[in-house]
Amino acid sequence: MANERIIRLDGKSTTYLIRINSVGHLENLYYGKKLRYDATLEALLPNRTVGIGTGVAYSEKNTLLFLETACLETSTPGKGDFRTPAVQVEYGNGMTTLDFVYYKHRLLKGKPPVKGLDAQSYVEGQDAASSIASNAQNNKKSKNSKATTADTQASTKEEAITVQILLKDKVLPIVLQMNYTMFTNCDVIARSCILTNKTEEPITIRNLASLQLDIPDSNWNIVSFDGAWGRERNITRRHLESGITEISSNCGVSSAYHNPAIFLERPDGTETRGDCYAFNLIYSGNHREVIEKSPFGQTRFQTGINPQTFSWVLKPGEDFTTPEAVMTYSSMGSAVASTNMQSFVNNHIVRGAWKFRERPILCNNWEATYFNFTEEGILDIARAAKELGIELFVLDDGWFGQRDNDTSSLGDWFVNTKKLPDGITKLSNTIHGLGMMFGLWVEPEMVSRLSLLYDRHPDWAIIIPGRDPSVGRNQFILDLTRQDVRDYLVQAMSEIFTIAKVDYVKWDMNRIFSDIHTESNYNLGQFSHRYVLGLYDILKRLTAAFPDILFEGCASGGNRFDLGILCFMPQIWTSDNTDALCRTAIQTGTSYAYPPSTMGAHISASPNHQTLRKTEIETRFNVSSFGILGYEMDLSTLSAQDKQIIQAQISFYKHYRALFQYGRLYRLSDGPQNRSTSDPTSNNQVRWLIANTDFSEMLVLDFQILNQCNIWQSILRIPFARPDFNYAIETRLQKVPVSQFGSLINMVSPLQIKANSQLKKIIDKNIMLDNEQDYHIVSGDILANSGIRLSPQFSGVGFSNNTRVLGDFDSRIYHLIRVQSSRKH
Ligand code: DGJ
Repeated sequence: MANERIIRLDGKSTTYLIRINSVGHLENLYYGKKLRYDATLEALLPNRTVGIGTGVAYSEKNTLLFLETACLETSTPGKGDFRTPAVQVEYGNGMTTLDFVYYKHRLLKGKPPVKGLDAQSYVEGQDAASSIASNAQNNKKSKNSKATTADTQASTKEEAITVQILLKDKVLPIVLQMNYTMFTNCDVIARSCILTNKTEEPITIRNLASLQLDIPDSNWNIVSFDGAWGRERNITRRHLESGITEISSNCGVSSAYHNPAIFLERPDGTETRGDCYAFNLIYSGNHREVIEKSPFGQTRFQTGINPQTFSWVLKPGEDFTTPEAVMTYSSMGSAVASTNMQSFVNNHIVRGAWKFRERPILCNNWEATYFNFTEEGILDIARAAKELGIELFVLDDGWFGQRDNDTSSLGDWFVNTKKLPDGITKLSNTIHGLGMMFGLWVEPEMVSRLSLLYDRHPDWAIIIPGRDPSVGRNQFILDLTRQDVRDYLVQAMSEIFTIAKVDYVKWDMNRIFSDIHTESNYNLGQFSHRYVLGLYDILKRLTAAFPDILFEGCASGGNRFDLGILCFMPQIWTSDNTDALCRTAIQTGTSYAYPPSTMGAHISASPNHQTLRKTEIETRFNVSSFGILGYEMDLSTLSAQDKQIIQAQISFYKHYRALFQYGRLYRLSDGPQNRSTSDPTSNNQVRWLIANTDFSEMLVLDFQILNQCNIWQSILRIPFARPDFNYAIETRLQKVPVSQFGSLINMVSPLQIKANSQLKKIIDKNIMLDNEQDYHIVSGDILANSGIRLSPQFSGVGFSNNTRVLGDFDSRIYHLIRVQSSRKH
């Protein structure tokens, strides 16, 4: 081993080893559980003593080196590696053969910013780009934020180490810099590449992956997060088979179709058992993830810009930097990989005044009014919201131009005085006067054909001259690759943010890309990437100019839920679908790679506007509270009962807000995608756990999909409970409507109550029961290894005060806190 050149990166629990082989290629020697410092590494070396049939040996001198079987840190075509290349560059007469070998490397403490990337990870105090919202000095903590939540603690101890490795092609002066930063505390490695053309001719980059990881075996399940509008990031789990599995987006945004986050799990792995790799990309545009099982039983993973919509000419002397990609590893199942990613986002992606700051509970008027509102109507909702304890009022779409529906006015960012005769400043002042923050919806990236902006600048819209344009939601995308368009948008947004005195901005984006065209003079293979860079430029300037504004990303809900957006906007509207059942799947999928502090989650009306499903208001709260809570229904017309319920919900959320927002989210049961098929009830449950760093305080969501008849007790087991702790467990007090019992009420009523009678209506409207109260003191070892027996559930065979009346789509929240004694007081 003495002659081996090895670069080692250690995290808290992981080790990453890069070997520079005798030829100079970078090989991945190991990525897994942390190794001893004195570990003898010989066993990790590839055993190259015989060749492979029909393989291409690397050179006449290296007849036993077959690149297609090597675990490589980067790869190129032309020298015997037949898997997907990480670097594909065309030069000369269409030649693509390149062969990058080691030149030099350097190790650095912390993380120097990667030049040219506006969206990238950072270490506090070594801010990624001083230009991004200059955060360190604004990094206020909320007065009432609790220091004990998971990530606020982690942030104070976080360290990073970076290695930059320079590779050169063996023949041409083309240089590849590979950057690795290990964020030690959360065991996440960020990677990026910079390709420099030092030749005297232009070269064309056809593909440049941000990250490649070759794993020596191929026994994996791929977990991806897929869907469409209203059903974003639902989990797909499939076994890796021979050939290439591609997860990608080519519609211009990271997309609801396929999120860039990917997990590789062992087929028999669980949340708490088995190797697991997790990956993500800090990018908001077209991306591609390749998971390839090679003929020799190895796995190649790559992520980066989608080459399908990309080609980039590098002139002599120019360089190109990829977006950053991130990865983590857990030897203990997907929960640790997932909470590593969650912690990474809170510590090294989200920045600015709202980092680790408790986020306000908001009320948004969209589903209450859609486009049809008046100033008085808005104020009625805001006053009702204030009374309930809500802290931020958000005025959604329809406040500007002539915007009465979605066919007009995008681009005309001045107030619609028909709806708001006293102007936006007055409305904002009135809302501030109520003691609430004021937020505004904008969709700056778009223009409607029916708008003054389009009349003035038709060439700013992305439309191909001479072709009938395709439309999405009747609108066009502005060409953000143009400096004049970006300057205009920064100015227009700055004006409206100032006039409206906004504390919060919902930044929407409601169509995907078609008809790619620009009036600028560059090859359209650059367009999609240039658009993303243009967007980041705007966001960088606006967040720097308005460091205190809380930005929430939105793209028809979760069409651009990614780490790139989170570099500028600390939270994202998770989905337009607010149905509690659908949200359990959406938020479960999202939690794999993103923390609850990033997930906007609102309670809306029942029946739900996206599914027409009826769910109880308590259940809608229980699901929404595991994110950034908001209300999106007409609060000015609530019944007295609902008001009382919502007030109680809000004070419960405020009490545990730090934990709900900054705790680590674990999945105790995934619902329908649950791996366990041996238990017929397991697919019927979604259970989430949110915990602080040392598991001394936890909140559990127990959500039942459909009720069943004649079932027995449910057991609440928390494998993450600390065996050496004792816990007190309490059920959140919530209301059970009497109407849920239907005509069964006659079993207890002294009077016969007829269906549809006036009396029945009065009872249904006014009488609510308290739910059962499970209160236990339990030692952590029992909680972790067996679990507590919850009160028997209503299933058609009897009822007492202690019955868990849990219908379809019904739920409970349990609070657990460490106590000294294992006995009830
Ligand atoms: C899509 C968003 O996701 C909704 O919340 C709402 O803001 C509408 N756009 C408004 O047009």
